[in-house]
Amino acid sequence: MDDAGERRAVRTFHPRRGRMSKRHAEALAALWPKYGLTVVDGDRTAVDLDELFGRVAPRVLEIGFGMGDVTAAMAAADPGRDYLAVEVHTPGIGNLLALVGDGGLTNVRVAHGDAMELVHRIAPGRLDAIHVFFPDPWPKARHHKRRLIQPGNVVLLRQLLRVGGVLHCATDWPEYAEAMVATLDSDSGLVRDEQQAQDTEQAQDTEQAQDTEQARHTEQAQDTEQAQDDGPVQGKKPPEDDRPVRDKRPAQDNGPVRDDGPRRDDEAAGRPETKFEKRGVRAGRPIADLVYRRV
Ligand SMILES: C[S@@+](CC[C@H](N)C(=O)[O-])C[C@H]1O[C@@H](n2cnc3c(N)ncnc32)[C@H](O)[C@@H]1O
Repeated sequence: MDDAGERRAVRTFHPRRGRMSKRHAEALAALWPKYGLTVVDGDRTAVDLDELFGRVAPRVLEIGFGMGDVTAAMAAADPGRDYLAVEVHTPGIGNLLALVGDGGLTNVRVAHGDAMELVHRIAPGRLDAIHVFFPDPWPKARHHKRRLIQPGNVVLLRQLLRVGGVLHCATDWPEYAEAMVATLDSDSGLVRDEQQAQDTEQAQDTEQAQDTEQARHTEQAQDTEQAQDDGPVQGKKPPEDDRPVRDKRPAQDNGPVRDDGPRRDDEAAGRPETKFEKRGVRAGRPIADLVYRRV
C-alpha cells in the first residue's frame, strides 16, 4: 500500500452526518467560490498561499476547527495574519463561511477535507503557527493510531512551520495530553514554551483537587460521548455540533461550570475558549494547552 493508501486507512476523524442550516447553505453557495479550498485525497498540487490569500503575510493553519467560532474570532483580532482553516464536517464549513461573511473577514480561507492530505500541499517553512484545538481524543487503545498528534503527523506539521513558528495543541483529555507531551518532547525539531508549560501544570494541579466523585462522573460522560466512535450507533445521535452547548447533557450531569467562577483567561491560553473545551470544562476535565516552537 502506498503512503496515501495508508493514510486513508487510518483517518483521524469519523464521518459525521450533519444538518446544513439554511444560513450555512446560503453562506456556502455565496462564499465558497471566493474563500473555499477543496482538499482531495491524493492530490499533491502545491497550494500557493500568497495567491490564495491575495497577499503576503504570516499564516496560521487551524486543523479541525469544528464550527469555526474560534477561528473567526482569532482572525478578526489578528488581521495581520492569514488563517487557513481545515475541517471535514460540512456544517462547520458553512458556519465558518457565514462568520467570515458576517465579519467581513478577508484573512480567512476555508479548506474542506482531510488536513493530513492538505499538509502535503503546503511548502515547508511557510507557516507562522499551527493550531490543533481539541482534536478527537480516540480514547480506546485500539483507536490511538487515529490520533492526530502522533509522531509521523507531528513531523509533517513541524516541517511546515518557519523556525520559531508555533505548534499549539489543546486537549481536555489528560491521557491524550500526556501522550501529546511525550510525542512533542521527543521531536528534536520542537521545544516547549516554558511559560505555557507552567500555566498548564498549575491548571492541572487545581483540577486534581476536585473530588473523586466528579472524576467518576467524567468517565461516564466520556464513555457516552465516545460511544459513536464504535460505528453502528453513530447515526442515531443528532449531530453534536448543531446543538446548543448547554443542551447536550441534562443539568444534573453537568460538572463545574467555569462561567460561575473566575473568568477564563483567553490571553494566558493564547486563544478563546472553544466549543469542545466548554463541554470538557463542564464535565470537570482539565484543559491542557501545549505550545511548542520549531527550532
Ligand atoms: C473534537 S472536535 C474539536 C472542534 C474545535 N476545534 C473545538 O475545539 O470546538 C475535532 C474536530 O476535528 C475535525 N478533524 C479531525 N480530524 C481531521 C482532519 N484530519 N482534517 C480535518 N478535520 C479533522 C473533526 O471533524 C472535528 O470537527
